[in-house]
Order: sequence, then C-alpha cells, then structure tokens
Amino acid sequence: MVKQFPQGFLWGTATASFQIEGYTTADGRGESIWDRFCATPGAIENGDTGDPACESYVRYPEDIAVMRDLGVNAYRFSIAWPRIIPDGDGAVNSKGLDYYSRLVDALLDAGIRPFVTLYHWDLPQALQDKGGWTNRATIDAFARYTDIVVRCLGDRVKDWATFNEPWCVAFLSHEIGEHAPGVKNRKVAIQVAHNVLVAHGTALPVIRQRCPDGRAGIVLNMEPTYPMMDTEADHHAAELNHQRFNRWFLDPIMGRGYPALAWASYAGNEPEIRPGDMDIIARPLDYLGINYYSRKVVHAPSGSHQEANLHLDAMQDDAKQQGHAAYEGRILHHRDEDNVSARGWEVYPQGLYDLLTWVHTDYPGIPAFFVTENGIAWNDVMAGDGHVHDPERIAFLKQHFEAAHHALEDGVPLRGYFVWTLMDNFEWAFGTSSRFGLTYVDFNTQQRTIKDSGRWFGRVTHANAIVD
Ligand code: FCB
Repeated sequence: MVKQFPQGFLWGTATASFQIEGYTTADGRGESIWDRFCATPGAIENGDTGDPACESYVRYPEDIAVMRDLGVNAYRFSIAWPRIIPDGDGAVNSKGLDYYSRLVDALLDAGIRPFVTLYHWDLPQALQDKGGWTNRATIDAFARYTDIVVRCLGDRVKDWATFNEPWCVAFLSHEIGEHAPGVKNRKVAIQVAHNVLVAHGTALPVIRQRCPDGRAGIVLNMEPTYPMMDTEADHHAAELNHQRFNRWFLDPIMGRGYPALAWASYAGNEPEIRPGDMDIIARPLDYLGINYYSRKVVHAPSGSHQEANLHLDAMQDDAKQQGHAAYEGRILHHRDEDNVSARGWEVYPQGLYDLLTWVHTDYPGIPAFFVTENGIAWNDVMAGDGHVHDPERIAFLKQHFEAAHHALEDGVPLRGYFVWTLMDNFEWAFGTSSRFGLTYVDFNTQQRTIKDSGRWFGRVTHANAIVD
C-alpha cells in the first residue's frame, strides 16, 4: 500500500546559521561564541571554523534553487543573533536584518514557507563575556533581539521557534563541554537550562504581539530511552535518563515542573528559580518541534538505585555493557552495533514512532508536531560518474518516514517533516568531516551536487508519499 501523507503536509530541509553561512565578519556581524570556540586549539576536528562553511550568506540563491529541485515546500533555518545585534544588546545592524529579509523574500518567491529558529547556538560573544546564559540579563537581551527580528520579518514569516535543542545549549555546552562555550560544570549547566527555558517563555508573547497571525514553538532534541535488561536497576536507570534528557525540558514547558527523580539526582546543583519563572516557562505552545536521531539503551550492572544513579554518568558506551548482559537475566533491548551511522549513532526508526506517540499521549495539550530534524551522517564520496551514491541514507529516511506515517495513522497531529540537512555543512565539533546533507558540498569549490538521497527525497515530496 502506498503510504500517502495528508494534503498540506510540509516537507522541508533544516539548517542553522553558523553551519552554513560563512562570511563571519561580513557586513558588521559580531563575534559569536562559536567563532571563539573554533579558535580554541583542539576544539574542532581538523581545526575547521565557520568559514567558509557553505557560504550561504552569498550563495543562498543557489541553495534555494537546490530546494526547488528537491521539491520542498518548507525550509527551517536560523538567524545569527550577532548579525542582528553584533554585541548582543546594543545597536542594531540593519545589514544583518537585510540579509534575512532578502532570504525570506527569495524563499517566498520560490513557494517555500520559511520556518525561523531564533537561537541555534550562536550567542554573541559579548554576552558570553558577561556570563552568557548564566546571566539573567541574557534573557532580556534575547527578548529584545526577538522583538527586533519578528518586527522586521513577521509580516512574511509565520512559523517561529525560540530555541533549538536546549539540552545541547545547557548540558552539551556547559557540562560535557563539547560545544561552545566549552564549560564543564554541572551546576552551571542546570542553571543555563533553566534560564534558557525562561528566555523561551519570555519570548513567546513577544512573537505573538509582533506576529499575531503566527505560530510559536520550541525545538527539543529527544532520545527515547530503553532499559537493556529486565531488572529494576535498568528500568530505574532508563527512567532517570529519560527524565534528565527529555522530561527536564518538556515537563516544565507543559506546566508540570521539573521531574522528581532527575531533580533528586541533581541534589546540590538545583537551579535558582525566581518567583513566576515556572509560569513563564509554561506558556502555551502552538506546536512542538522534535529532533530525532537515535535512541539510548541503558544498563546499570549491579543493583541498587544509588549505584544506578552513579553509573548512569559512565554509560556512554552501550556496546561494552552488552558483555555483562548474559549474567543478569532477560535482555529487553540491545544496541544494534552493525546498524550505525558514520557517527556511531544507532539507526532505530521505531524510536521515532515511540517518541511521537509517547509525547502525544502523555502531553495532550500540544496541538501540533513537526519533526524538525532527522537525518544521518555518512562518509559520502563523489563517485567517478559525478554522482554521490548514498543508498544507506535513502534506507534511513524511508524507514523514518514510515515510522512518522505510522504515528500519523495512530492519531499524532504531525504537520511536517524537515530532513537534516539541506547540504553538507559545518557540523560543530566534527567540522566539515561529518556529512549529513541531501546535497554534497565540495568545500574547496563550494560546488553543490544533489546526492541520490536528495533525488529520492524529491520524488517523495512530489508524490507526498513514501516511494521506493
Ligand atoms: C542537531 C543539531 C544540528 C545538527 C544535527 C546533526 O543536534 O541541532 O545543528 O548538528 O544535530
């Protein structure tokens, strides 16, 4: 049976400003925390930086031409705050606003609906110098930046997201330290998570005031978590990871406060919460964007809840843990080591179905969903015939589209699907070595070549159905 999607379903691609724009000093753009981080020796693979990335700052007409070839009717991109307000909270740089205004016009001319993310990680460095997201003044600066952007673009852009992946902004960047600003301090990360959520809630009424006929939401990265063994300790460890990773953001946004088990596990590192914060965070969403890449299987080898807590932090390498499994009873889930991306992320389409149906069932207040990112890194090469053959990516996308279709059939109000990503780009700490694109980019010549997966995706968008 042909798996047809509902009429009006949105098929798009997603990108982020720092990953594609390049031209990091053009037209008055200020320094961002990612420029500074890239200059830190060893922080980024091969010493890559945000230049040239994909030079989308000047090549956006080419990128839109590619999108037309792919047949997408939506494009998710982000705005670089340091282009708009170079020092974060001071003078407005009209050239920065002009760039996004031109981009939006060109998209609309091409019949592509713009979905704008206000914050995809490139905080102005000047704000970081004053404490970044640990400083409550950054919340006010974000509200002002939001006001300036939405006032300028809100007549044409109707779909807004405040933040991309607050988990990454908080924990990946301030506890693990793999992303800018490279801090490694759990207490700081937990405060950042809270302040970012307050900034999200503070921005929602600003967007609604300046764009009354628009829609405002947030994009969360989610990782469905499964216990490896059918033991109490593993169920507990899975629940703890689930709360720390997924519910730590979703629950306060949905008015439920921070989840209890994770809260208790952070004893001594709790965030400072000011009166009124939790109400601000819980302002209603028009939609929730979900980024899904893989799942997590957790295992707490020997026992007590406390040990499970402690062990969770050390459970990065699921593979090793499988060695212990045989001794402890029934295996519920195990990571399929043979089915992973070039980044080692397990391919697990069922996780997308589980995630969408779980959130929809447990949080009935969310009116609409988008898959705002999903895709796979592969070691793509340009073949002698001038094409990029990536059957693995086609298989990956097909299986995930099927999972999304299944969720739709089961009643999840899924309105669109954005593939990560339009073209190979600057993949954060991995630099340009990690290719996620539907389009291949030669970073020496900036030549774009649509991969086989992009051609296949074009047939999907055209048919509004999953094709072979
Ligand atoms: C997500 C980010 C996106 C990209 C993909 C691979 O976490 O939002 O910018 O790096 O992962």
